[in-house]
Amino acid sequence: MSSPARPLRGCRSSALTGAVTVPGDKSISHRALILGGMALGETRITGLLEAEDVLNTAEAVRAFGASVVRQGPGAWKVSGTGVGGWRRPEDVLDFGNSGTGSRLVMGAMATTPVTAVFTGDASLRKRPMGRVLEPLKLYGAEYDARPGGLMPVTLKGAVEAMPVEYLVPMASAQVKSAMLLAALNAPGRSRISQKTLTRDHTEKMLAAFGADISVEPLPDGGEVITVGGEAELKAISVAVPRDPSSAAFAIVAALLVPGSDILLHDVLLNPRRTGLFTTLQEMGADLVIVNQRESGGEQIGDIKVRASALKGVEVPPERVPDMIDEFPILAVAAAFADGNTIMRGLEELRVKESDRLAAIIAGLRANGVTVQELEDGMVVEGLGGDGVPGGGTVTTHMDHRIAMAFLVMGLAAKAPVTVDDTAMIATSFPEFENLMGGLGAVFAEG
Ligand code: S3P
Repeated sequence: MSSPARPLRGCRSSALTGAVTVPGDKSISHRALILGGMALGETRITGLLEAEDVLNTAEAVRAFGASVVRQGPGAWKVSGTGVGGWRRPEDVLDFGNSGTGSRLVMGAMATTPVTAVFTGDASLRKRPMGRVLEPLKLYGAEYDARPGGLMPVTLKGAVEAMPVEYLVPMASAQVKSAMLLAALNAPGRSRISQKTLTRDHTEKMLAAFGADISVEPLPDGGEVITVGGEAELKAISVAVPRDPSSAAFAIVAALLVPGSDILLHDVLLNPRRTGLFTTLQEMGADLVIVNQRESGGEQIGDIKVRASALKGVEVPPERVPDMIDEFPILAVAAAFADGNTIMRGLEELRVKESDRLAAIIAGLRANGVTVQELEDGMVVEGLGGDGVPGGGTVTTHMDHRIAMAFLVMGLAAKAPVTVDDTAMIATSFPEFENLMGGLGAVFAEG
């Protein structure tokens, strides 16, 4: 990374008020670009998240031969090559900070006879790619990576792809999605199973693009997804709902800053993404979902939040996949609750943009919050609404959600909370500072 670190402080703020619309959902934005690039015809996307992660995916889809054109704010047109029509990129593909973009694109190209080189920033180059590359070998793809399955990775798509039966061993929507996308250009039917249910945006969008896909429940609570190969995808229009994982920061800020009262429009309410909202309600949050409706095959709604006294809870481990990206901000909410909040089943947090479990615990401790580290989670000892000292500096480890979560902590702590670098916020939520500032949040330069 060449740009200098950009520290920032979150400072005690008075009531947050107003109505906001957070940017488009990151998961759905990646998928709309990738499937648009594999479909025949013009896919029109509105509400696309124009953040670094998604822009890197747009660039990669373009490098494989699709036309990807920005027509206005959030409005993009993708003219795809048809399934199997991707050509060899002329250069290395740089996915920046994005695990989702890189892993999904690996899947999308794995059954087409092209070769591509994948790399990313210092954070992405530490993240495990073998979890996607190893099962993609079952389709006939081959790869070369640094020891430990690390980027840079050269992936050679299968010359003669074959259908696959595969059980995804960890709770990962990225691995599942890579395997589903690869199935599209294999002959026959591939069956991908998961024991733990994870976000289903790929399944939903594949059906909308006309793929032959069916999902059946398994007796153990899992699912088997069957995808017909040599598929023809037909271009569609995609209206991207607003990202609940970005909304989470404004929501928790409003809960913590006394007197706050805010409204968030058009937030994605897919049940595989709303675990944080349920947990906050169990903690006593005044969080109400109104105007619930369907848009493009996904549930959306508006969320009203008012400042609330929170109490500690135990998060059921089976809910973890439905809020996997929300633990940094939940841990901040827990610090302001009365009593302990117990979070377990968080192994996957170790392989996010940072070792998120370690980063959260270090950030809490730096700001005077007692937290016990468990093998698979943590117990945050809540200090009550006005009890968090703050005053610490948080190391973000190139993790956007660590940066945003601890800036929110500063809005309600006794002393400002400094994050060492906010540059990574642009990977998912470039408007964060402005949007939060518009509600009344106070930030000060490092
Ligand atoms: C995502 C899946 C999750 C999540 C990530 C987005 C996706 O990752 O953490 O932010 O869009 O499929 P894992 O599949 O690694 O759990």
